[in-house]
Amino acid sequence: MVGRISFYAFSVGTASRTISSVAVIGCGTMGSGIAAASAAAGCRVLMLDLTPEAVERGVSAVAEEHRHLIDTGTIDADLEKVAGYDWICEAIVEDLGIKKDLFARIEDVRSAGSVVSSNTSGIPLRSITEGLPADLRADIAITHFFNPVQVMKLFELVPGEDTSAEVIEAFARFGANELGKGVVHAKDTVNFIGNRIGCYFMLSGLHLAKPFLADGMKQETIDAVLGQFVGLPPTGLYGLIDLIGLDVMDLVGKNLAVNLPEGDAGHAYTSFPPAEQAMLERGQLGRKARAAGGFGRVSKNDDGSKTKETFDLHEQEWRAPVAPDVDGLPVGMGDVLFADSPQGRVAWEIFGGTLLYAAGLVPEIADDIANVDNAIRWGFNWKKGPFEMLDHLGPQRVIERLRSEGSELPSMLATLDASDGETFYSGEGADRQMLMPDGSLASAPEVPQ
Ligand code: NAI
Repeated sequence: MVGRISFYAFSVGTASRTISSVAVIGCGTMGSGIAAASAAAGCRVLMLDLTPEAVERGVSAVAEEHRHLIDTGTIDADLEKVAGYDWICEAIVEDLGIKKDLFARIEDVRSAGSVVSSNTSGIPLRSITEGLPADLRADIAITHFFNPVQVMKLFELVPGEDTSAEVIEAFARFGANELGKGVVHAKDTVNFIGNRIGCYFMLSGLHLAKPFLADGMKQETIDAVLGQFVGLPPTGLYGLIDLIGLDVMDLVGKNLAVNLPEGDAGHAYTSFPPAEQAMLERGQLGRKARAAGGFGRVSKNDDGSKTKETFDLHEQEWRAPVAPDVDGLPVGMGDVLFADSPQGRVAWEIFGGTLLYAAGLVPEIADDIANVDNAIRWGFNWKKGPFEMLDHLGPQRVIERLRSEGSELPSMLATLDASDGETFYSGEGADRQMLMPDGSLASAPEVPQ
């Protein structure tokens, strides 16, 4: 009899882990995007923020034809409304103390069987849940969307130590089937997968570019080499940071300085080189700074025409853009890494360095290489993820170069070197396999088109 009752309770519990309604708390950039995407998927959505004005701004991001699915309120007056929702998604300001207080209040009012998440971009889940009730710790995960939510495919899911598997399954199903996202399973480590590797590319790039700039290489050349030549978007390095903003990159660097594990190569790059630090201090942050610009700026002339300029990092002054110096570089994707020229060397140091960094992060940040490749393709629009790119280049060629430079092999390259295989992935379609950190082979998802 007792067994029967507990089975009944269990089946009710799992059945209710289906998400069909969402309470979003915090209606800024991310919360309004999550609300809009959920309403577009046909869910009832509750939107709460500090003030009615903040909520109203958030609702304006929801398409007119989905607004009938939206209920609204303020956190102070209406928090108990979350009891009527399957998923309670926190997307408020990035502040540990404020998030913890909110989760404690949510726990008092949410319904049994509901699932809870934080959209934090950098606070470890174990810090958020420390001291919070066990029921909440079993039902909470990080659901990390990328901005803009309705455009970016990547959806990183991060369980805590106590998160139950059925909660992660519910989020994964909802993310893939209802929101149409690419679900990536990450671990509770700083910046998860996409931003751990993507931010290493950007922050290390600023430093590693310096000697090339001092030797006369132009930023336009660096952006071109780190764009289509290696299968990255045309923004390259500086164009990408202009989009994100130096202020955001500064906060990312400070968070990495505190939370990267000891010995991580990223520690060398958590603060800016002097020229970029000076740009930050005078508000030259990127596109968001408009007239102040970033590494580039566009100004409108009296006659309505536009003038584009580049901020020359070496000369520290504005100048007319120049054409990138890429004549004669090999055009096959990634071949530039092996070109015997300054362009080849800058590509090897910055892009190659990021591939090697990624190759050392499994199993630290993800259980397998496919989650890393998916995160980078979906979050940063690389044509190939790091391991797919290493396979494309030929891992043996990379290993030989590292040996000739006297460098250590990152963990997954060492695992490959010790195995019988020649590449990280083998086989096609349903037979595709991938190399695991322990040297075994496991079934790999097909490469999404
Ligand atoms: P935002 O500043 O656009 O919105 C934050 C919202 O929180 C605002 O509507 C604000 O009224 C509300 N808020 C401020 N103080 C509050 C308090 N004391 N209590 C309750 N609500 C408060 O921020 P955004 O960009 O939407 O970020 C939200 C979360 O998502 C953060 O944890 C951030 O790290 C994370 N995130 C941000 C990304 C981005 O590109 N903007 C990407 C991925 C994650």
